[in-house]
Amino acid sequence: IKEILKLAPNATVVGTANCKAGLEKHYFGNWKFQTVKTGDTLNLGERTLSFLEAPMLHWPDSMFTYIEKDALLLPNDGFGQHLASSKRFDDEVDQNILIEEAAKYYANILWPFSMLVTRKIEEVQKLGLKIDMIAPSHGIIWRKDPMKIVTAYLRWAKGEAEKKALIVYDTMWESTEKMAKAMLEGISSEGVEATLFRLPVSDNGDIIAALLETKGLLVGSATINNGVLPTVAPFLREMEGLRPRNKLAAAFGSYGWGGGAVATIEKALKSAGMDLVVPAMTVKWVPDSNELQ
Ligand SMILES: Cc1cc2nc3c(=O)[nH]c(=O)nc-3n(C[C@H](O)[C@H](O)[C@H](O)COP(=O)(O)O)c2cc1C
Repeated sequence: IKEILKLAPNATVVGTANCKAGLEKHYFGNWKFQTVKTGDTLNLGERTLSFLEAPMLHWPDSMFTYIEKDALLLPNDGFGQHLASSKRFDDEVDQNILIEEAAKYYANILWPFSMLVTRKIEEVQKLGLKIDMIAPSHGIIWRKDPMKIVTAYLRWAKGEAEKKALIVYDTMWESTEKMAKAMLEGISSEGVEATLFRLPVSDNGDIIAALLETKGLLVGSATINNGVLPTVAPFLREMEGLRPRNKLAAAFGSYGWGGGAVATIEKALKSAGMDLVVPAMTVKWVPDSNELQ
C-alpha cells in the first residue's frame, strides 16, 4: 500500500475503522482514507463494491467485499491458503494440495475463531448473494466450485472430525517412543487410522492441519525436570491457543522418579478445551512387554 500510494498519491484508501487505525500504526502515512462499514457500498462506475465487516476473521480490521456484477466475493483472509503458485485458479492446481493447504490455513489461523466463521457464513448465506467466485487475499481463487470451500469451512468450524488418532510425542531415550509405537499398533489393530508425529522433527503446522479432521489426540513426553521436554511445550502452547473443538485426548510418557510430564500435558490439553478420555499412561524407565501391551 505504501508503495502504491507513492505512485498514486491522490488515491483514497478504503477500509474499516480498524483498518485505518492499523495502517496508520504500521506505516505512519498521512493518506486519504474513506472509512466504510457493513452495508456501505462504493460505486466505481462499472462495478459497485458492497462491504461486510468480518472482524477477527482473522484480524480486527477484516472485511468481506462483494461485487455483484461479477458475483465475486473478496473475503480477505477467509477461505485462503498459504499456497504460492504461478497459477491463479482452483481448477488449475492439484485439488488435493489445494484442500490440504486450505485446511492447514484454517487449522493454524482460523480455528480459534470457528464460531465467528460459522456466523459470518450464515450471515452471507442469508443475504442470498450469488457467488460464482471467491478470491481470498491469500492463495488460489475459488471459481470451479466456490461452495466446496464454504462447505469445508462449515464442517471445520463445527469441529466435525473422523474417527482417527494422532500420536504426538518426543523422547530422549526411546521409552516414550516405544509407548507411542505400541499405541499406534493398538489403535491400528482396531481398524482406526493413526499417525505418529515426533516432535520436533515434525512441523507443528502439519500436525495441526492433520488434527483438524481427526478426533483423537495422544500427546507423549518423557519427563525432564518435573515437566515436559522443551520440544513438546510449543505444541501444547499451540493447542491452548487454537483450542480445537470436540477432541478426545490423552497423555502418556516415561519417567524416572517423580514424573511430571503427563500432568503438564493433561493440564494443557484441558486448558485447550479437550476431553481427557483415559487416565494418563505412564511407565517408569523402560516399558516392559506387559506395559506395552
Ligand atoms: C536431564 C534429565 C532430567 C530428568 N528429570 C526427571 C524428573 O524431573 N523426574 C522424573 O521422573 N524423571 C526425570 N528424568 C528421567 C527420565 O524421565 C527417564 O529417563 C525416562 O525414562 C526417559 O524417557 P525417554 O526414554 O522417553 O526419554 C530425567 C532425565 C534426564 C536426562
